[in-house]
Amino acid sequence: MPGSQSFDDNFLREMNARQVWHPMAHPADSQANLPVILTSGQGVRVTDIDGHETVDAVGGLWNVNLGYSCEPVKQAIAEQLAELPYANIFRGVSNDKVIQLAHETVDFFAADGMARAFFTSGGSDSVETALRLARQYHKVNGEPSRTKFLSLKKGYHGTHFGGASVNGNANFRTQYEPLLAGCFHIPAPYTYRNPFGETDPEALAAKCVAALVDEINFQGAGTIAAFIMEPILGAGGVIPPHASFMPAVREVCDRHGILLIADEVITGFGRTGAWSGSRLWGVQPDMMCIAKAITSGYFPLGAALINERIATAFESDSSGKAAIGHGYTYSGHPVGAAAALAAIAETRRLDVVTNAAARGTQLYDGMVSLAGQYPVVGDVRGGHGLMTAMELVADRETKAPIDGKLAIKMQKAAYQAGALIRVSGPNVILSPSLVIEEADIDIALNAVEEGLKAIS
Ligand SMILES: Cc1ncc(COP(=O)(O)O)c(C=O)c1O
Repeated sequence: MPGSQSFDDNFLREMNARQVWHPMAHPADSQANLPVILTSGQGVRVTDIDGHETVDAVGGLWNVNLGYSCEPVKQAIAEQLAELPYANIFRGVSNDKVIQLAHETVDFFAADGMARAFFTSGGSDSVETALRLARQYHKVNGEPSRTKFLSLKKGYHGTHFGGASVNGNANFRTQYEPLLAGCFHIPAPYTYRNPFGETDPEALAAKCVAALVDEINFQGAGTIAAFIMEPILGAGGVIPPHASFMPAVREVCDRHGILLIADEVITGFGRTGAWSGSRLWGVQPDMMCIAKAITSGYFPLGAALINERIATAFESDSSGKAAIGHGYTYSGHPVGAAAALAAIAETRRLDVVTNAAARGTQLYDGMVSLAGQYPVVGDVRGGHGLMTAMELVADRETKAPIDGKLAIKMQKAAYQAGALIRVSGPNVILSPSLVIEEADIDIALNAVEEGLKAIS
């Protein structure tokens, strides 16, 4: 065993490959290709083990919305650690911070119709919680046969079995099958590739909604518990639907007694240039899944939020069916709650939503302009706040996806040129902190261009 003095740079490089298994990576690939090893972060920049500083154009993982130097959040965590570093909130116990946080969170999402909060340790937990509560709601409400879930192809809802089952990307499913029975997928409103050959966003939205209605009729509305969707699809490659899509989904769900779950793990707290993705589209879902930016990523925390209708059904139940047989050791963690209280206060104080909208437009316009110069860019998507993607292709005519190795090459070149960007399949995804300034967006765009040059 190495002594602590052996934890030098070479040790870190050597041992990362040997002992760390990375999420969303092939272990052999992680052994063959050394990852960037980050050691510090300041503002919207991160620095690696070699002292190379870059703009973090990924914003952690769509979560460090307030950047790396948000002192109020750091201080809240430190103070809470000194005061009460842990407490559970299972039956019969609560803590001051989680009560305050529930109040703040429900207030933040009141315009979305949210009335109660069930806290979790992250996004996958929040999705799992929402799916489970959706089934339970129908049992409590006298419709126990409503157990199925509908979702969008290309959607991403985390990696628990429930979330993976509603995920719409084979990468997260195939090696883990069989998944949960009773989950069915609808084509995504993805103009660049869709089974209808439809390129008009509004017409495509209508066709996807028609496919949803068709699937409901096929399954039988009385068997379906909920439809879950991201208001703007994120990990699937930033796919903003036409403005008519989510309102139409809401109407279809209402007509068929199906709950609408908005997975706002990325879109909550201002990323889209609106305070929530549902609000961007003028929709009130029945439940929302949130996580990530609720603590600006400084502490793992999430929540499933519940509207008044569902809350009333549970709270007025006298059969016992509404007893919640679900929860986590870290539900309502006081340190996470303290971090979230500070992060939400900063999110409001800094009005990050306004900056997200302005810088998002700058980023999107810059990416569109790059697409005009580099044929390797097949499509650019975004235009709603700070979530933007470019899809790389080997051939614009055939839309054949680019060789994955080239995408990695581009990422490395961009990193050398000053920005950490994320490559996921053929997509380059940019989701920087919401406090990013104009000059840093320019640095990120310049780095993306250097990356494109390296593969053009
Ligand atoms: C929309 C959405 N839902 C759920 C998740 C899962 O969250 P976590 O990785 O915190 O479990 C993610 C993660 O990126 C996400 O983007």
